[in-house]
Amino acid sequence: MLLELRRLKKEYLRENRAFVAVDDASASLDEGQVAFVTGRSGSGKSTLLNMIAGLLKPTSGSVVFDGLDLSEMEDGELSFVRNARIGYIPQGQSVLANFSVLDNIRLPFYLHGRKGNPTDRARHLMGQVGILHLEKSYPAQLSGGELRRVAIARSLVNAPRLLIADEPTGDLDPQTTEDVMNLFAQVSREGVAVIVVTHDADAARRNGRHFSMDAGKLTESC
Ligand SMILES: Nc1ncnc2c1ncn2[C@@H]1O[C@H](COP(=O)(O)OP(=O)(O)OP(=O)(O)O)[C@@H](O)[C@H]1O
Ligand SMILES: [Mg+2]
Repeated sequence: MLLELRRLKKEYLRENRAFVAVDDASASLDEGQVAFVTGRSGSGKSTLLNMIAGLLKPTSGSVVFDGLDLSEMEDGELSFVRNARIGYIPQGQSVLANFSVLDNIRLPFYLHGRKGNPTDRARHLMGQVGILHLEKSYPAQLSGGELRRVAIARSLVNAPRLLIADEPTGDLDPQTTEDVMNLFAQVSREGVAVIVVTHDADAARRNGRHFSMDAGKLTESC
């Protein structure tokens, strides 16, 4: 098993009252599995993903990834594991304005201090998401969907074991949505576990496991 969520809970304080955004979520995911998570706005999906990615500390419960309890790791070690083994496509804009498309995509490789040349892999990924022609462009010159595709290519450059995507196709046209979903299916066949939060109406017919979030409760639909 690659990922295990154990009674994961996140409580926020809102107007001085405790508010449970994620309520005792438990699940596990194997290598090569794809999990789709759907649910209404505000149901806790991004909060859940941020905890799985190690970006947000749970109020209680734990995330065990690749045998490591993320909630017990110190920051430096956690950042290293995250950068090396977890690909994360956040919900908002996350591409760095002062770097070209190619440099944005190569950045996680350099942050990891790896030896070698990530350019071929970056170009291969750009081709897969259809942005090879934008290599030298800067983020301000790109559309929302193109920026999203930069974030998708960047998330895969270090060949992660877990890919987490928060509404990766929200601003893409149907054909590009299919291309991205096919790319996720392909990386899952290479052994990567993939978690996709989506409002995509077609999610239900896609191959994989299907979860829903409702007021912080995570359930798997059969
Ligand atoms: N830092 C925070 N402090 C207080 N409340 C928060 C915080 N972050 C999120 N929330 C609340 O927690 C709930 C869940 O938020 P979350 O972003 O996880 O929802 P979501 O399911 O991803 O929604 P969407 O589909 O709109 O992206 C929301 O009601 C939100 O207002
Ligand atoms: Mg969200």
